[in-house]
Amino acid sequence: MNNAQNKAEVIRNSKSGKPLTMLTAYDYPTARLLDEAGVDMILVGDSVGMTMLGFPDTTHVTLAHMIHHVEAVARGIKRAFLISDLPINTYRTVEEALASSRFLVQAGAEAVKLEGGCEQEEKIAAITQAGIPVVAHIGLLPQKVLEEGGYKIKGKTDAEVQKLIKDIEAVARAGACCCVIECTIPQIARKLTNHSTIPTIGIGSGQGTCDGCVAVISDIIGACPWSLPGFMHPKADVASIISNCAREWIAEIHAWNQEQS
Ligand code: KIV
Repeated sequence: MNNAQNKAEVIRNSKSGKPLTMLTAYDYPTARLLDEAGVDMILVGDSVGMTMLGFPDTTHVTLAHMIHHVEAVARGIKRAFLISDLPINTYRTVEEALASSRFLVQAGAEAVKLEGGCEQEEKIAAITQAGIPVVAHIGLLPQKVLEEGGYKIKGKTDAEVQKLIKDIEAVARAGACCCVIECTIPQIARKLTNHSTIPTIGIGSGQGTCDGCVAVISDIIGACPWSLPGFMHPKADVASIISNCAREWIAEIHAWNQEQS
């Protein structure tokens, strides 16, 4: 087993321990600070499209974008498990999924994350068998935002619940080391957690309903107030700190010029 596979095993075996923590990072300083703060997993999410690149959703993110950000994040991490999202249209076939995953590993990722349950079973199994740990992602799938005409909470109908149960079974069977459950109603997230043999990592799926929790770093530090999801309560107001620092600095420079004239 390589180092990445060992770390994935630790995650897989953490189902009933201390809740797992996963935060996104997209650059060297943030990755370094989060690693030093003790987060278990750092995700270079394709949320980079909105948080860093100014796109309206994740459907514009390419493998080249991800590689660039994974390389920067990898330079900042000594300890945490580094996961990279496979962006949209980079895992349409098993062969494409394998090739894209290898590019991300070359850039420094220790695991890849992809969206979808039953329909991705074969790809998750192939990537895992190639020695690359996989994190699954079920529930609301942001890469389907255009197809589904918006972001829709999952687990509201019996059919959706049955599909989610089949999804979590499929990704666990395929070898995923843990599974993100996004924007799924809390009772269903808890049901999936109880049913699942691998740890579940919740986002927008209620408090304490999963074995761990993932958050987008810009949401918890209040860096992008124009796109804060309703379920998030930021712990800081970094946007105001940046604006105020810039305003103060501009005023200072203007004052220097006035002093000279
Ligand atoms: O891209 C991302 O940041 C994610 C998290 C929301 C889980 O996939």
